[in-house]
Order: sequence, then structure tokens, then C-alpha cells
Amino acid sequence: MQTQVTIIGSGPAGLLLGELLTKEGIDNIVLDRKDQPYILERIRAGILESVTVEGLERVGVAARLHKEGIPHHGIELVYDDKHLRIDFQKTINRYVVVYGQTEVTRDLMEARNNSSALSFYGVDDVQIHDIETENPSVSFEINGEKKVIHSRIVVGCDGFHGVSRKAIPEKVQKNYERVYPFGWLGLLSDTPPVADELIYSNSPRGFSLSSQRSAMRSRYYLQVPLTEKVEDWSDDRFWEELSLRLYPEARKNLVTGKSIEKSIAPLRSFVSEPLRYGSLFLAGDAAHIVPPTGAKGLNLAASDVLYLADALMEYFIEHRELGMDHYSEKCLRRIWAGERFSWWMTKLLHRFDDQDPFTQKMQEAEFNHLMNSEYAIYSLAENYVGLPH
Ligand code: FAD
Ligand code: DHB
Repeated sequence: MQTQVTIIGSGPAGLLLGELLTKEGIDNIVLDRKDQPYILERIRAGILESVTVEGLERVGVAARLHKEGIPHHGIELVYDDKHLRIDFQKTINRYVVVYGQTEVTRDLMEARNNSSALSFYGVDDVQIHDIETENPSVSFEINGEKKVIHSRIVVGCDGFHGVSRKAIPEKVQKNYERVYPFGWLGLLSDTPPVADELIYSNSPRGFSLSSQRSAMRSRYYLQVPLTEKVEDWSDDRFWEELSLRLYPEARKNLVTGKSIEKSIAPLRSFVSEPLRYGSLFLAGDAAHIVPPTGAKGLNLAASDVLYLADALMEYFIEHRELGMDHYSEKCLRRIWAGERFSWWMTKLLHRFDDQDPFTQKMQEAEFNHLMNSEYAIYSLAENYVGLPH
């Protein structure tokens, strides 16, 4: 098989890139080791920055997002009994949109399924060859049959555990990593959210996040030790712990119900540089991970592929390589800004087991600074809604 761009991974990064290229007449094939129903059942992000919304508009898949997505003009932060509303509208006159990653993926997948673009799902043994040449290839197995795709470019959008990043020789790659000593236990339920806006809360029992998907669907997260197992968390146990971490007025509004999904995600900061080696480009979680506290992962994935689509258009349509040459450097500036914000939010809002009295005081002082400085609030707001692309 022959195409112009082989895309490994059919998460939001791979699917959005595929649509951006297809719209410009650049031939591409998408591969994923999972099948479509599995991918559509993964519950993950919920907050979209304007850069992500604009990306979806550009490929014509934003109709449902505009109908069902909920603009949020602020968030609430809580530290023990102190409350602070960060007003995005009043400070920087911008907003984010609450719309599940599952829905973004569904909209993009549907668009691809309705086009003539080729995709392979449920593939095994994906291997990348000859990336240091201009004729790379990707081999894989499907239904026991071996296939090979030859293309000019290979893009790794295969997430943190994918094969693409590992195809870059260790001697040219530099990895930066911080692993946090806790995870997030998430629960999705068809119950009304405790509040109109998201509540990020640092309580003496640990962090909690009260989020939502709609007026009748809530998404909650609890900080838990990495040793916790999801099987040990009955719905009742979850609701009880959440209610202990909420402030009294929010607790009064808590409506509990049967969970639709529960899972534990570890928290990690990670960046692999550079994002390009020869004919292979990395985008999204394949190249970087942020702890979810800043709601940045999906948005950084979208911003990478928007840069990459422009660079590939320049290459295939105008025969210029400058965009591809600068792809890694351009992405990394925005990635490190997202890493900084996500790391800072994580440090501010979680309880650390080894929190010595000085660290505790620093966390409190950081929160007090936010309570007393409009400049600090502006800084939080501009990062949360997303820095310029
Ligand atoms: P993925 O979504 O991981 O997609 C990678 C794809 O590659 C998958 O479909 C996988 O099956 C496939 N794949 C893997 N290996 C192979 C292989 N060898 N061959 C072929 N295919 C392969 N981000 C935000 O922006 N806002 C939020 O509010 C937010 N909240 C989050 C909450 C949680 C609990 C979690 C876990 C994450 C959250 N994120 C959030 C992060 C966000 O979900 C990810 O950053 C996003 O999914 C990255 O998209 P991606 O396409 O790069 O990777
Ligand atoms: C959600 C997840 C996040 O990581 C976040 O910061 C905000 C919202 C969510 O899943 O709704």
C-alpha cells in the first residue's frame, strides 16, 4: 500500500490530523491497535480550549459541539475553607467549553468513516521502518495477515504507551519526567452536577474535582494513593469520600447515583524531545504527558497537530520543508508552557504524603497570593483558557 502520510493512533490527535490532511487533499491512512467501540468507550478529558474548538471547526465537525458543548466562564478553587472564583470572562474575556473527549473522538471518527479515507482498526505488531530515509514504511498485522504501508511521512499519534516514540534512537532523544505519588480515581454518573462550574478542591483529605458533561451527567475525581485498586471503590465509598472533600454548600447539592464508569489514572509530567526524527513526527501524548489538573492534555494534542498539518501542507502543496524543520521547536514552546501550568496546578491542589510543614506553608501562601492578587488570577485564567496558538 502507498499513501502520503501514515498516522499511527486514532485518538483525538490522529483523527484530527487525518481530517486536516484529507481536507487539503493529502492522502493518509490511520491505524489503531484497538477497535472503534473500545476507543469510543474511553472516558477522559472534558475541557476544550478555543484552539481545539477552532481545529474542529476547521474540519467541519463542530456542529454537535456548538449544540451540546457548555461554555464555562470561570472555575472555583477551594483550599480548606477558603474559596476563590476565577472569572475568565471578567479577567481576560474568554471561556472554555465543556464537551467530552469521547464526543470529540466520535465526531471525528464519524467524519472519517463517512469519507473515502482508509483506516485499519484492531491491528497488531505495528513496526516502523527506515525513518531516517525519505521512504519510510509501517508494517502491521490484521486478521493474521501482514500488511505494509509505504509513505513519505509517518506520524506517531499513538499515546504514551505507543511504539512511535521508541522508534527514535536513544542517542538523539532526551526525556524529562516527573511521576507523582498519587492517581485520580474518576467516576461518571447520570446525576446533576454539584455546581454550575467546576470545583477544584484541596481539602485536608486530598484533592477532588467536581466536573460535568451536561446538566444531567457529572464527572468527579478523587486523589488516591497509587496503591489503590478500582475494585476496592464501591460507588458508596466514592460518594462518601467525595462528600467529605466538598465544602458544606456543595455537599448539600451532591446527588449520588449508580456509576457509569470508574477508573484510576496515574499522574505524570513527561516530555520527549525532539518531536521529529527524519521522516517520523510525534504528536500528542506520544510525545508529552501532563497531569490532568490543568486540563491541558487533549488541548496540547490538538495544538501539535494543527502545527503539523500546516507544516505538512506546506511540504506537500508548496514543496517547502521549513515548516517541518521548525515543527518540534514550535510545539515545544507551547508544550513546556502547558507542562509548567499543569505542574503548578498539581502542586497547589494536592496533598502530598511527605508534605513537611514548610511545603504546607508554601502551598497556603500560594493560595493566599491568588486570593489577594488580581495579577496572579489573570495568570491562572490565561493559562487555563489556553495560551495563544
Ligand atoms: P490517545 O488519546 O492516547 O490516543 C492514542 C491512540 O493510539 C489510542 O487510540 C491507542 O489505542 C492507539 N495506539 C497505542 N499504541 C498503538 C500502537 N502500537 N499501534 C497503533 N495504535 C496504537 N486533557 C485535556 O485537555 N483536558 C482534560 O480535561 C483532561 N482530562 C483528563 C482526565 C483523565 C482522567 C485522563 C486520563 C486524561 C485527561 N486528559 C485531559 C488528557 C487527554 O485525555 C490526553 O492528553 C489525550 O487523550 C491525548 O490524545 P492522543 O490522541 O495524543 O492520545
Ligand atoms: C475534567 C478533567 C480534567 O483533568 C480537568 O482538569 C477538568 C475536567 C473532566 O474530565 O471533566
